[in-house]
Amino acid sequence: MIEPSYVVLDDLTYEPFEYFTASLIAIVAEKGIASFVLSGGGTPLDLYRRLGRSTIAKNVPWDKIHFFWGDERLVPPDDPGSNYAASRKALLEPRAIPEQNIHRIKGELPPHEAAADYAARLSAWAAEHDPGAPHPWPRFDLVLLGLGEDGHTASLFPGSPVEVDTPVIAVTADYQGRPAGRVTLTPPAFNDAHLVVFLVAGANKADAVHGTFYVGDPVRYPAQRIRYVDEEDPMWFLDKGAARRLDWRGNRPPR
Ligand code: 6PG
Repeated sequence: MIEPSYVVLDDLTYEPFEYFTASLIAIVAEKGIASFVLSGGGTPLDLYRRLGRSTIAKNVPWDKIHFFWGDERLVPPDDPGSNYAASRKALLEPRAIPEQNIHRIKGELPPHEAAADYAARLSAWAAEHDPGAPHPWPRFDLVLLGLGEDGHTASLFPGSPVEVDTPVIAVTADYQGRPAGRVTLTPPAFNDAHLVVFLVAGANKADAVHGTFYVGDPVRYPAQRIRYVDEEDPMWFLDKGAARRLDWRGNRPPR
């Protein structure tokens, strides 16, 4: 298998923040707009808070950034289990992101309606802002993903269907007592993106990281369905716990 592109950090406090800040500034400088897909889960919340409050991140042209989500739990948007609610509080509210730039998955709808609604809005957004897109969804500029200790990413869980050609699906999965009804983007949608970045922390993820990198089994390790070949590799930011099973010495943080 191809060696994935990853860096191991003492903690995920500074480098990911600098990476996302610089990337968002560069994308907007080049295109005038940026589409940013947020991850759910607890790992990115510190990053979101820093992006939301740091004076350095004030230089990001926040009103030019459009926010999407890689997945959502099927709960109302003010529920503590909602990925949208968590990122709203940490990042969108502090930066006063305009409502028209927020493209959340409607977790309050029945699963298939929520999936169809998101797919329709992705298609409409792509038609307006990314007319060269080869499929009826945007080629997202920047995608942030996490990894569960069972190897899931977004809400692509082990054993979930591999042959998918739609950008959004509804799934049901029990994980750590979190809401089981989910709507998720799929590999075809993630794989049209320009930059995909995983943020993974904690020794409880070490087996999942190792399996994803080195055990060729995309049914067991769904993050393998998100491409990691050629220059458009996803980049993995790992803390030392998550990298515990990798032979990572010599890997350097990005400049
Ligand atoms: C979600 C996610 C999910 C998450 C992982 C890791 O809705 O829960 O998007 O894929 O990224 O479960 O979660 P933690 O960061 O909390 O470990």
